Amino acid sequence: MLFPCGILILYILISVSGFRKDLFSTRTSYFWAHSNVREPQTNEWMSVNIDGTPCTAQHVSTLIRHGAAYPNLNFLRKLSDLQKTIRENLGNIQFSYIDTWVSRYPKEKAYHLNPLGMNEQFSIGNRFGERFRKLFEGSKELSLNFLSSNKDRTTSSARSFMNGIRDVIEFVEDKEVDPYINDSLVRFYEDCPKLEKVTNDPRLLYELRTFLDSDYIKNITDSVQRRLGFSDNILSKNDISFINLVCASELASVNSTEWCDMIKDSEREVLEYAQDLEDYYERMYGHPVMGEIACPLVQDMFSDMDHIVNGSSVRHRGKFYFGHSSTMTSFYAVFGFFKEQPLQANKFKELREREFMGSKAISFSSNIALTLYSCAPNAGQFNNKTVDRKYIIQMFVNEEKVKIPICGEDPCFYGELRNRLSNMIDMCDIESVCKIQDLNSASCIGSFLCLLLLIIHRLL
Ligand SMILES: *[C@@H]1O[C@H](CO)[C@@H](O)[C@H](O)[C@H]1NC(C)=O
Ligand SMILES: *[C@@H]1O[C@H](CO)[C@@H](O)[C@H](O)[C@H]1NC(C)=O
Ligand SMILES: *[C@@H]1O[C@H](CO)[C@@H](O)[C@H](O)[C@H]1NC(C)=O
Ligand SMILES: *[C@@H]1O[C@H](CO)[C@@H](O)[C@H](O)[C@H]1NC(C)=O
Ligand SMILES: *[C@@H]1O[C@H](CO)[C@@H](O)[C@H](O)[C@H]1NC(C)=O
Repeated sequence: MLFPCGILILYILISVSGFRKDLFSTRTSYFWAHSNVREPQTNEWMSVNIDGTPCTAQHVSTLIRHGAAYPNLNFLRKLSDLQKTIRENLGNIQFSYIDTWVSRYPKEKAYHLNPLGMNEQFSIGNRFGERFRKLFEGSKELSLNFLSSNKDRTTSSARSFMNGIRDVIEFVEDKEVDPYINDSLVRFYEDCPKLEKVTNDPRLLYELRTFLDSDYIKNITDSVQRRLGFSDNILSKNDISFINLVCASELASVNSTEWCDMIKDSEREVLEYAQDLEDYYERMYGHPVMGEIACPLVQDMFSDMDHIVNGSSVRHRGKFYFGHSSTMTSFYAVFGFFKEQPLQANKFKELREREFMGSKAISFSSNIALTLYSCAPNAGQFNNKTVDRKYIIQMFVNEEKVKIPICGEDPCFYGELRNRLSNMIDMCDIESVCKIQDLNSASCIGSFLCLLLLIIHRLL
C-alpha cells in the first residue's frame, strides 16, 4: 500500500470540526462533499438484475475531475493584495493574525495536485478496483486505459488513481504506465471561438448579475466588513467570495482554518448559490454549445462500447479520463443532469436543497461512470423485443447510481441512449460546432432572407 489507511482516515476527520466544509463549489475537496461514501463490497457493481434477468458489467468509462490542487499564481497575487487591504483597514483585533500571516504555498507547485488530492484519487481508484474486481482482474496492461489532459494536476491524478486500483487488483503485466495525454478529448472547450462568443454575451449571466445586486450579497459584504472592523466600504463582492476561496484553499493545501472565521456558514451558502448561478449558465445550460462541445469525449466512450455491443472483442475493460471542472459540466449537460431545475436569482430560499450544487457535482475528484452491462439473452421479458435490449447502461455520479435524465427508461438500454446521442457520436465535428456562423453581406447577395437576418444580426 502506498498510502497507509491512517492518512485517509485523518483526511476524513478534517471534515468534522467547527464549520461546514462542503460549500466551496469547485474548491471543495471530494472528502468534504462526499464524506458519506460507503466502503464498497467486492464486485458490487459487477452485476445487476433487471426484472429477473442477470446482467454483467463488460466495460466502464469514467470521467474524473482532477483532485484537490494548490492554488495558481494568479490566486497567490490576489491573495497578497487582499492581505494588504485587510492589514490597512483592520479594526478588530480578533483577526490581527492576518497582519503577520505568511503564505505557505509552494510557488513552484502552483496548480499542482496536493497531498489531499492524491488521497482523493487513490481512494476513489481503490473503490473502483474493488467494485469491478472481476472485470479488471487479470487485465493486460492496455485493457485498462488512462487518458489525461496535459496538466500536472490531471496526470498526477491519473497516477494516484491507478495506484489505488493497483492496490486491489493484480495486473498481468505489472508495470507503471503513464496516462495518454489527449487534450482534444478532455479539454475540448479550449480554442472554441463559438464558446468564447456565447460566454461573452452579457445576457448569459443575467441571473447571476441579478443575484449579485440583491440584498443577500449586499448584506454579506456589509457584515463581513463589520466583522473585520472596517470603517469604510472597501471590499467588493468579488473580494468576499475570494476570502471564502482562500479559506477552502488553506484548508485543502495546508490544513489551516485561519481564513475561515471571516465568513459564516449561512453566508457561504449564499456565496455558493452565486457561484452555482454562474456555473449553471456559463458552463452547462446557458447555450447548447456547452454540451455539444463534449462530442469528442462522448464519441470516444461510445466507440469502445459499440465495439462490445457489435460483438467484437473487448478493447478496454475500463477507460478513465482525467479532466477539469469544465469537462464535467459539459458532460453533465450532454446527459441532461440538473436541467429540470433551472437556477434563478429569486429562488435562493426555494432551492437551498437543489439538484445542482457545485460543491457536490464538480468538487475536486468528482466523477461520472458509465457502465455497460450485457444481460443474459432471452431470459427476461424485456429481452425478446430487439437485440439491442441485450445491453443496458448504468450511470454512477460521484459513486452513486443515478437515473440518466435523457434516457427515457430505467433501466437505460444501450440502443436507446445511443440513439439519443447519435448526433454527437456519429456526426461529431468539433470544428463546425466551434465555428462562428459568419453572416456577411458578400455571401448574402441574392438572398432576401439572408439580408434580413444580417440586418437583424447587426441591430442586436
Ligand atoms: C486523441 O484522441 C482522438 C480520438 O480518439 C484521436 O483521434 C487523436 O489522434 C488523439 N490525439 C492524440 C494527440 O493522441
Ligand atoms: C439584509 O439586511 C437587512 C437589514 O439587516 C434585513 O432587513 C434584510 O432582511 C436582509 N436581507 C437579506 C436578503 O438577507
Ligand atoms: C488538520 O488540523 C486539525 C486541527 O487543526 C487536526 O486535528 C488534523 O489532524 C489535521 N489534519 C491533518 C491531515 O494534518
Ligand atoms: C457498431 O454498430 C453501430 C450501430 O449499431 C455502428 O454505428 C458502429 O459503427 C459499429 N461499430 C463498430 C466498432 O463496429
Ligand atoms: C416476448 O416473448 C413472449 C413469449 O415468447 C411474447 O409473448 C411476448 O409478446 C414478447 N414480447 C415482446 C415485447 O415482443
